[in-house]
Amino acid sequence: MLKGKKIAVYITGGIAAYKSADLVRRLIKEGAEVKVAMTSAATEFITPYTLQILSKHDVYTDIFDEKDSANVSHIHLADWSELAVVAPATANIMAKMANGIADDFATTTLLATTAPIFIVPAMNTHMLGNAATVRNWKQLEEDGHFIMEPDTGFLAEGYEGKGRFPEPENIVETIQSFLLRNQQDLPLTGKKFVVTAGGTKERLDPVRYITNDSSGKMGYSLAIAARNMGADVTLVSASDNLETPFGVQMVSVDSAGQMYEAVFKEFEQADVIIMAAAVSDYTPKNQAKQKIKKSEEDLTIFLAKTKDILATMGQKKTHQFLVGFAAETHDVAKYAKGKLEKKKADMIVANDVSKPHAGFNKDTNEVTIFSTDEEPVEVSVRTKKEVAEEIIQQVIKKMSK
Ligand code: CTP
Repeated sequence: MLKGKKIAVYITGGIAAYKSADLVRRLIKEGAEVKVAMTSAATEFITPYTLQILSKHDVYTDIFDEKDSANVSHIHLADWSELAVVAPATANIMAKMANGIADDFATTTLLATTAPIFIVPAMNTHMLGNAATVRNWKQLEEDGHFIMEPDTGFLAEGYEGKGRFPEPENIVETIQSFLLRNQQDLPLTGKKFVVTAGGTKERLDPVRYITNDSSGKMGYSLAIAARNMGADVTLVSASDNLETPFGVQMVSVDSAGQMYEAVFKEFEQADVIIMAAAVSDYTPKNQAKQKIKKSEEDLTIFLAKTKDILATMGQKKTHQFLVGFAAETHDVAKYAKGKLEKKKADMIVANDVSKPHAGFNKDTNEVTIFSTDEEPVEVSVRTKKEVAEEIIQQVIKKMSK
């Protein structure tokens, strides 16, 4: 989606400046044309030559060093760019931008550009929390600029805190969805999706639970793919190890019972519900208030069946399009078709989890999509992101019939 997009990347002087080389490389890999401007402090951390080689364009550092006498270069870059990305953004550049100060190439061009501005702050945690930075951050948002939250973790100073430059991969992802948010008329614009993800946790006592191997990756990829097509997405997640995708409404749950409640809260308004979660079929009949102590040789735990969320929705649906998953180890087609009928789903995505590249906790998947009154669609081994995009395409196709 960044194909042909003209992006100006402004690198300012922080230790994370070296990571912006990777960011530039990734933007280009996604099809963008990138031109780079650097503050003089940034050139202390990484050389313009590195960025010149990566971007295949001259790098702008000095406002009076005109590359082409036919153009005033800062105005040329300001007008050329369709998006301005300030990464990393120091407290200093945020302060200057918030106050309209233009005293070098980067700040002057940022003042002159009419392109949307996407800011990726990275700085010491105390600088980030300083009242002046907080004030400038607020001002920049009020001025209509987008600011991506820094990560929390180990800082260059040797201690933990918020202020880390996010992974370039996540920055690219966030830029893509930022651009999409401003785009109208996507195939799913105005559609409300509910996607469930992860393996539910059924508590035995305050410290123990029953769960399964689902990582949530498939559900998260589906939420992102639907969002990228313009849908308004709520992600009901039982997974706590994945980052909340930008622009997606997150509802965190633990148990099958909680997932049932969360899904039905959204059910009426939803257009499409995708049950990618691995919902536990059984839950302990009694949840001990205190830790169960070791006693006899054998321990019996009584389990009660959980409510089948998909099947209940199948009975109650009015306009909703229901997509279920079927994780099987044998007779995949037979069980998938059975679930399509029994649960009154519109589509079942089946995978053979005994295969090495498919199923729980993997980065790839291989699925067959079964829909009512249609021939099954085989999706060969590919990343979960690609499988998700294919599933969303199939949903769009089927809904438009
Ligand atoms: N599902 C659900 N509620 C449950 C159990 C499953 O909504 N309590 C959904 C899953 O999210 C999935 C589909 O039903 O989309 C099929 O789940 P699966 O575990 O494959 O099927 P089950 O009906 O549980 O049957 P079995 O475990 O015997 O294969």
